[in-house]
Amino acid sequence: MSKFFVTTPIYYVNDAPHIGHAYTTILADVLSRYHRTVGDEVFFLTGLDEHGQKVKQAAEKRGLSPQAHCDDLAPRFLNLWKTLDIRYDDFIRTTQERHKKIVQLCLQQVHDNGDIYSDEYEGWYSVAEERFITDTEYESGQFRDVKKLKEKNYFFKMSKYQQRLIDYIQAHPGFIRPEHRKNEMLGFLRQPLGDLCISRPKARMDWGIEIPFDKDYVTYVWFDALVNYISVPGYGSDEVKFKKWWPADVHLIGKDILTTHSIYWTTMLFSLGLPLPETIFAHGWWLIGETKMSKSLGNVVNPLDLTNTYGVDAVRYYLMREMVLGLDANFTPDSFIKCFNSDLANDFGNLLNRVSGLIQKNHGGQIPQPGDLTAVEQDIKQQADSLSGRIKDLINEFKVQEAVSSTLDFVRILNKYMETQAPWKLAKTDMKAANRVLYTAAEGLRIATIMLAPVMPEKTAAVLSILGAENTRPSWGQLRPGTALQAHPPLFPRIEVEKP
Ligand code: ME8
Ligand code: MG
Repeated sequence: MSKFFVTTPIYYVNDAPHIGHAYTTILADVLSRYHRTVGDEVFFLTGLDEHGQKVKQAAEKRGLSPQAHCDDLAPRFLNLWKTLDIRYDDFIRTTQERHKKIVQLCLQQVHDNGDIYSDEYEGWYSVAEERFITDTEYESGQFRDVKKLKEKNYFFKMSKYQQRLIDYIQAHPGFIRPEHRKNEMLGFLRQPLGDLCISRPKARMDWGIEIPFDKDYVTYVWFDALVNYISVPGYGSDEVKFKKWWPADVHLIGKDILTTHSIYWTTMLFSLGLPLPETIFAHGWWLIGETKMSKSLGNVVNPLDLTNTYGVDAVRYYLMREMVLGLDANFTPDSFIKCFNSDLANDFGNLLNRVSGLIQKNHGGQIPQPGDLTAVEQDIKQQADSLSGRIKDLINEFKVQEAVSSTLDFVRILNKYMETQAPWKLAKTDMKAANRVLYTAAEGLRIATIMLAPVMPEKTAAVLSILGAENTRPSWGQLRPGTALQAHPPLFPRIEVEKP
C-alpha cells in the first residue's frame, strides 16, 4: 500500500465552472478512485483561486466586494462537484486564513534566503494577462488593456535556479508529462530565465495577500495560488501531515498553466528547500470547433445542462473516454451521443440487459452454477483476471482513456461470447451449458463493472447491486450462484436522434 496525493488547479472564481474545469476535476477523481480500489491511501485536493486582478475585476463588474463575489460563486463550484460525484479530501479557498498565513511564511522564508529583492521597473503592463509584457509582445498588438507602468516591485530570483531546474528535468524523465510538454519546457529554458515580479502595489491592486515585509504590497496571485499545494497538506503548520503527503504524486493541470507550474512553482520549491512533486501532468484542451473552450471567449459548455439530460455517469464516461491524455479533444454533441449509444447503450448496458433478461427468463432469476468451464470460458476467465493488473499499470501511466477502452473491449468480447454461445438456444437443449455461459457472462460483467467504477460510480454501484455483488473484488469466481437478481430498468437507454 502506498499514498497517492493528487491535485487539480485551483480555479479562478471569475465565473461559473465549465466543462474544462469539470474535466480536470473528474480526472483527479477517477485517478483517486482507482488508487483507492487498489488500497492506496489517497489525498485529493482541489479548490479555488480567489485573489488577483481577474477576480477583483469580475467582482467590480457585478458591483460586489471581491470577498462577497467569491462567497457567492464558491457554492457553484462546490455544488457542481457534488453533482458530479467528486470525492475530494480537501477544498481550499485562498482567502482562508490557513492558506494566507502559509503564503506569508513562504514569502518570508524565500526573502530570508536572499531570493527576493526590490527593484524599480518600467514597462508595458497587460491588465488582461496580469503581467508586464515585453516590447516584442507589445508590438505584436495581441494584448488587450495595455498600459505603461513604472513602479517599485519585489522580484523572486528565478534566474538563479535555471540550471538546477534544467538538470532536474533531465534527470527525472517522468517529471513533466507528457513527453512533448517536457520538451517544450526544456526549449523554453534555453532562453535566459528572468526573475519573477511577485508583488503588486496596493495602490494599484489590493486584492491579495499582504507581503509580510512590506505592508504597501500584496503578493502576485501565482505566488499565492501555487502555495496551496503545500499549505493544505500542512507545510508550516503540521509537520507530521506534511511529511506524510508531500511531495505530491501528481499535479494535474491543463497545458495553459504549464509554465507557472513547471518553472515558477519548481523554483519556489527550490528556494524553500522542498522536494518537487513527482509529476506535473499537463493535459490538452477541450475545443469547440477549432478554439479553446474558455470563459473569456464565451463558448463554454455548461456541465449541468449535460448531466441533466444524459446523467452524471455518462458525462464522466464521455470525458474520460474521449480525451487521450495530453492531446486536445473536440467537444461536440454528436460525439457525445455516439459515445453514449455505442459504448454505454449498445455494449455495456446491453450486456447487462441480456444477461439479466435471460437469467430471469430461463434460470429462475438466480445466478446459475458455472459447472466445469470449457476452454472458451477459461480464456474469458484469464482475460478477466489480467484486466485489473493491466488497468493498474495504465492508471499509473495516466492512460485513463486506454484503461476505459480496454475495459470496453472486454465487454465487447463478452457480448460476442454471448452471441456465439447463444445461451437462449442452449437453454432448450443443454441446461448445464446454458448455466455455464450465463455464469461466465455475468461474472465477466461483474469484473468489467468494478473496473469502470472509478469512472461511473453510480451506475456501476447499481449493476453490482443488481448482481448481488456489492463490495466484491475483481478476481474470478466471486459471483455467488443462487443469488437472486434484482429487477431493473435499462441502464443506459439509447439516445434516439431525430433524423432531419
Ligand atoms: O489558471 N480544456 O485557473 P482557471 C481543458 N487559477 N481544461 C480546461 C479548459 C479547457 N478548455 N479550460 C480550463 C487558473 N481548463 C489558475 C490556476 S493553480 C495553482 C492556479 C482547466 O480557472 C484546466 O485544468 O483558468 C486548466 O489548467 C484550468 O482549468 C485553468 O483554470
Ligand atoms: Mg485560465
